[in-house]
Amino acid sequence: MTYNPSRRTFLGGSLAATAAGASGIITPASFAAGPAMTAPEIMYGPAAGVAKLNANENPYGPSPAALKAIAHASSTGGAYYAYQAAMYLTDMIAEKYSLTAKNIAITAGSSLILSYAAYAATTKGVILGPDLFWDTTSKAPISQGGPEIKRVPNAPDLSIDLDALYNAIDDNVAMVHICNPNNPTGKILEPAKLREFCIKASKKTLVLVDEAYNELIQDGPKHSMIPLINEGHNIIVARTFSKIYGLAGMRVGYMLGSEENIELINKYGLGGYSLNQAGLAAAIASYNDEAFKDFSRDKVTEARAMIMEAVKANGLTAIPSSTNFIFVNLGENGSANAFRAAMEEQNVLIRGQYRSYTPWSRVSTGRIEDVKMYVDAMPKALEAMYKKA
Ligand SMILES: Cc1ncc(COP(=O)(O)O)c(C=O)c1O
Repeated sequence: MTYNPSRRTFLGGSLAATAAGASGIITPASFAAGPAMTAPEIMYGPAAGVAKLNANENPYGPSPAALKAIAHASSTGGAYYAYQAAMYLTDMIAEKYSLTAKNIAITAGSSLILSYAAYAATTKGVILGPDLFWDTTSKAPISQGGPEIKRVPNAPDLSIDLDALYNAIDDNVAMVHICNPNNPTGKILEPAKLREFCIKASKKTLVLVDEAYNELIQDGPKHSMIPLINEGHNIIVARTFSKIYGLAGMRVGYMLGSEENIELINKYGLGGYSLNQAGLAAAIASYNDEAFKDFSRDKVTEARAMIMEAVKANGLTAIPSSTNFIFVNLGENGSANAFRAAMEEQNVLIRGQYRSYTPWSRVSTGRIEDVKMYVDAMPKALEAMYKKA
């Protein structure tokens, strides 16, 4: 069967092959065609033979402990709202950082609470951020008439220019949004410099640090800005179970901040109601599972080395990454969109162009065999991309 990305999301491999018939093209009519196709198999992950390297997930999750907890929580608690489990996880997080439950808000993925923060901020002013960062949630209010993000150019090496950000804070800025390590660059800020910036900037406005990838760094705690909350600074920090914990599909994320900030931000949605027993159980079982985190970090390190080697072997460069994705420079005539299309032809899914950064292509790490597919597909994909240029 020909790989057809538009159907990939909906169909399981074996059923898709049957439904596709001789043409290899699947249409809704394929399902009405015969008795073998009464109930399409629901697909939860990527189809067999597809390397999914486009969303910075950890395909080695959920951990064995999380899988067990998911089954237990679903069978004993699936009929009930997840209030107790939410409180349990909140307390675990609070204890880890010497905070209280009132300093923490858990939602179905950090995107939700991050978007509440954006809605809250934009009632007062604009959000300030770098040109290149994970801006999805800070853009959310725009569709409801909110302001565009005020952006500051990244430094020439694509790192976040903290001085420029600080100088851009004026009375109209209601929140500064920093992502560290940054997505899509994979670059990390020097902790002392970020700390100094956060303390200075938070005297003028609210500072949000999205630490979605913190646990992927070897010395994550050294890079975290959470201690600044304990010190009383006007800072909120977001974390997620979607990355190193391998629970992107289970949807658990959280925000930490002062009691006042958390209470205010929580008013912009019903995040507590978004939680589910299975996701919370998985998060609780994974939170202190250092062996699984070490294992995942090792896989990411191995995959990163494979990608960097392939990049070099193909005459390209990439930004050394602190995370589970790499920002590859496809060169002068490079096109991230053409490269993505050519990769997709070979069943490798990666990201396309970001903003005006035409030659920059982001690839996630992933299962080692998926990364091998990316590495093997690279020469042909580059050739196809250059042909189009
Ligand atoms: C920096 C950053 N923050 C937050 C998220 C959202 O994660 P989730 O909503 O799954 O917690 C992502 C997703 O890729 C991300 O890259």
